[in-house]
Amino acid sequence: MLELSLVERYEDVGSEAAQEVATVLADRKHPVLALPTGGTPRGMYTSIVKRVLRGEIRFSHAHVFNLDEYLDLAPTDSHTFRSYMNATLWSGIAHHPASWVIPDSSPSDPMAECRAYDRALVEAGTLDLAVVGIGENGHLAFNEPGTPWTSTTHVSCLSLETRRAAALAFGGLIQTPTRAITMGLASLLAARRILLLVAGRGKSAILARALLEPPHAAIPASILQTHPNVRILADMEAASEL
Ligand code: PGA
Repeated sequence: MLELSLVERYEDVGSEAAQEVATVLADRKHPVLALPTGGTPRGMYTSIVKRVLRGEIRFSHAHVFNLDEYLDLAPTDSHTFRSYMNATLWSGIAHHPASWVIPDSSPSDPMAECRAYDRALVEAGTLDLAVVGIGENGHLAFNEPGTPWTSTTHVSCLSLETRRAAALAFGGLIQTPTRAITMGLASLLAARRILLLVAGRGKSAILARALLEPPHAAIPASILQTHPNVRILADMEAASEL
């Protein structure tokens, strides 16, 4: 079932999302979370760090999976999602999670890296909450259009649209990675609850297609329609075509 929550401003997306994460951290003995990177969740992380610093929540009993990571970047590269998480969340809080799984950005064997990630998912148990964003082409994590719904962790060839969206941060398309490791759609769909964060007018057309068209592989986010427990948290601009 899809629950659509509309909020006035981008800042409200962040604080509402942080509240969802806080609830899981408080309610579960061993919470298992999947967390995103990108522009949209920055407000959520700001809000989470504030809550941790106020002593309202803690991560020390949690198992955290990052949804994806670029390939062919040095692990210390500031563009990796590992660096993003360190800068945006972990450096701001004292007690780190019981485990944090994020694919290596330069593994000697990417397939083995995918299998290790899948094994870690199985060991951690069911994801209590997966927080995701949506790409302008409808991707979920780096599951690009056409990805089978049965997919587990895999190497994704990034679409031109995805690379163009990231190119500014990389200083040009040429420097933008062409591949990534991503959690698969089947693993994502196995989460007890999925929270989709959507902000800005640039996402309005794809959000409308993902929610209003019948689910199909050309728009990976449309698969959310088949999940029993999804909340979409959107600001007014993102929801303007619904
Ligand atoms: P964004 O990315 O939050 O930077 O817009 C979302 C996504 O591409 O999944």
